[in-house]
Amino acid sequence: MASGKVLLVTDRGLERGWKTAFAAQGFDLDTRPDSTRAIELIDTEGLDAVVIRPPLRGEKVEEVLAALRLTTPRVPVVIVDPEVTPREVFEICRTSSAEYHFDARSPGPLAGTVRQVVERSRAARSGPPTGSIDAILGQAAITRELRATVLKIARSAATTILLLGESGTGKDLVAHALHESSPRAAAAFVPINCSAIPEALLESELFGHEPGAFTDAKTLKLGLLELANGGTVFLDEVAELSMPIQAKILRFLEERTLKRLGGTRDIPVDLRIISGTHVDLEEAVSLQRFRQDLFFRLQVVPVHLPPLRERVEDIPVLARHFLDTLNLRFHKRFGGFAPDAMRRLVEHLWPGNIRELKNAVERVVLLEDGSSIESSMLDFLRPALEATRPEPVSVSQPPDRASLRWDDLELDTLLRALEQCHGNQSEAARRLGVSRDTVRHRINKFGIRLETRAIVTLPLDRRLPAREAESGS
Ligand SMILES: Nc1ncnc2c1ncn2[C@@H]1O[C@H](COP(=O)(O)OP(=O)(O)OP(=O)(O)O)[C@@H](O)[C@H]1O
Ligand SMILES: [Mg+2]
Repeated sequence: MASGKVLLVTDRGLERGWKTAFAAQGFDLDTRPDSTRAIELIDTEGLDAVVIRPPLRGEKVEEVLAALRLTTPRVPVVIVDPEVTPREVFEICRTSSAEYHFDARSPGPLAGTVRQVVERSRAARSGPPTGSIDAILGQAAITRELRATVLKIARSAATTILLLGESGTGKDLVAHALHESSPRAAAAFVPINCSAIPEALLESELFGHEPGAFTDAKTLKLGLLELANGGTVFLDEVAELSMPIQAKILRFLEERTLKRLGGTRDIPVDLRIISGTHVDLEEAVSLQRFRQDLFFRLQVVPVHLPPLRERVEDIPVLARHFLDTLNLRFHKRFGGFAPDAMRRLVEHLWPGNIRELKNAVERVVLLEDGSSIESSMLDFLRPALEATRPEPVSVSQPPDRASLRWDDLELDTLLRALEQCHGNQSEAARRLGVSRDTVRHRINKFGIRLETRAIVTLPLDRRLPAREAESGS
């Protein structure tokens, strides 16, 4: 029987027979009196389930539950409370995925229930992501804050939200979670990648058209906005919208009605718009590539998704999660990561963020075999630090210029990828787990010249003055 760890949150301590009853189901049982102490334990050890049993030290069951949901959203919770009314059970089960167990007299049947709940949760976790807030994994303080924010703003069904974050930080995931946790969850969630639909088609895709609106418009076609009525539209890569379409979206946001192409009628449409971008929209506004009025309309509530390097505490949880799902997908049996392999993952800088981490784990699980992921299997993740740059940064740079060092690391990672791919940008993007746009953008930013397919040169003359100027500021 697989072994696991269960946390009992109660102010009663461990009563006689409880540890044995859980051990018989393969669980090590530990106890804490309140949510704060429970979370301290959860932070240091993985958990398979939490049992909440009143009395709790100065807290209600719902309070402990809410605190746990923000910390370990996916851990199954069983509440043991013989005193609770059916109405309270209904309320709690409606808003969380906790289960109830009413019989607190003997721990044996409870341990059996916990076993079943854990098995069900393991099976569910191997399925596709749920799209709910629980799918946003991570323990870091900023990730918890992110979950709390998502939960809060999801509830106000009309608020317009702008998701800002580098490539691979989870914008799609969060947009989906916002929808799933909102009162609009029963209606459609329509993600639209503004950069993937050709400009000429985008307008009719969004707004639809009447028959005969243009040559190819034979029949009536409903646009994506109209199809999403009642639900949520996620306008991803919103910075890519052309000026004419920006004007139309602005009008839609102001009037909440749309006209199909070739139509005359104003059709009321009720939806929430979430938009997403990895570029600096304010800069796009100042460069007059993005309308300022639309920018203000879209970012009623801006949500920043931090890059993975700013939440390294999330790396073990995410890596473990990807390992579990990929083991199943590729029929492998990796039990976990060797400590030095995990250290390597935690120390890597992940310019492609969570997507890059996922791709890295996928690559190892697919190509390697064994019972645990060893450090040597991660050799393709050469730390950007051992770069081949001629000048060590320390001579002229104060060591605390984190942003400068980050640029250097990013540059080195990019150069190495380009070298390995003989200057092929698409291939480099794929290896790094980032979009081709990101690669292109960085190439411009660093002034890298790609001469013939084999040679990658960096004009040092362009980099050095910039660095000196920064270090003097
Ligand atoms: N907190 C998280 N927990 C679990 N999985 C995550 C988390 N954040 C991101 N992921 C996963 O990482 C991958 C990349 O996330 P996502 O596609 O949402 O990023 P993105 O910001 O939309 O990237 P891009 O700008 O490239 O479109 C997805 O497979 C997603 O499920
Ligand atoms: Mg995306």
